[in-house]
Amino acid sequence: MHSLKDKIIIVTGAARGIGRSITLECIKYGAIVFALDINKLDLVKLKNEIKNDQIKTYVVDVSKYEEINNLFLNLKKDKINPDCLVNNAGIYYGQSIFKYNNSEIDNIININVKSAIYFSKIFAATKIKNKEKGVILNISSVSGQDGSSDAIYGLSKSALIGLTKSNAINFSPYIRVNAIAPGIVDTQMLRKVPKDRVNNYRKSELIKDHILPIDVANTAVFLLSDLSKNYTGAIFDINNGCYLR
Ligand SMILES: NC(=O)c1ccc[n+]([C@@H]2O[C@H](COP(=O)([O-])OP(=O)(O)OC[C@H]3O[C@@H](n4cnc5c(N)ncnc54)[C@H](O)[C@@H]3O)[C@@H](O)[C@H]2O)c1
Repeated sequence: MHSLKDKIIIVTGAARGIGRSITLECIKYGAIVFALDINKLDLVKLKNEIKNDQIKTYVVDVSKYEEINNLFLNLKKDKINPDCLVNNAGIYYGQSIFKYNNSEIDNIININVKSAIYFSKIFAATKIKNKEKGVILNISSVSGQDGSSDAIYGLSKSALIGLTKSNAINFSPYIRVNAIAPGIVDTQMLRKVPKDRVNNYRKSELIKDHILPIDVANTAVFLLSDLSKNYTGAIFDINNGCYLR
């Protein structure tokens, strides 16, 4: 049985898609989730759906260091000590490198990469100082392994794989750090993936069932629970077997 009973879990990008599903599944398995997102409306909807105090919602722009730092200061003030962190928030433009302007490049790096650096650094600093165990889970992508028609997105997801492995080394033996690298998952983000890319993925998938946010969430629950106590620095491919390497 995957138990997350009473574990305190921070999930970024929790209002929609994969983050929302991870939040719901963690709650189902007994966790208390701090659900963070920039989208207040969808966060309120999520909170209303849960109807119990296993969820706390916070509007946080994960690209802003000050907002992240304030969140952790507030948690500390309230004597809340998170056990797990899920770096899930991400954006995708689905465009060629030639179409990117500089501020869009900054957005990808800030939201997809720097946020995970800031969250991991602050989360891990306290846990390591107190010699406490913890878990970090980064949501990467098949794009970070095999490349992407959107080079900036692809590099951001490769960066998360590098961060996962390096932090697994540097945060040991206290914090396990793993990543999930999904193929294409049916969320709003998928609508921005160019049709020819989607067809290409679909053709190379060995399993034809579409991957849903709940499928990624099930992997996340395993990686956050003690059932995965011997996994660290690992990248979990959930991609229907596309692009086997
Ligand atoms: N959908 C896919 O096919 C797919 C495949 C591989 C990896 N991923 C990754 O999974 C993660 C979740 O993607 P999704 O498909 O659920 O996308 P989504 O667009 O449905 O959800 C992303 C969430 O992140 C939030 N967010 C965006 N910018 C933010 C910011 N600055 N601060 C706080 N929250 C912010 C959004 O409001 C949204 O709720 C992303 O990291 C994405 O790269 C998705």
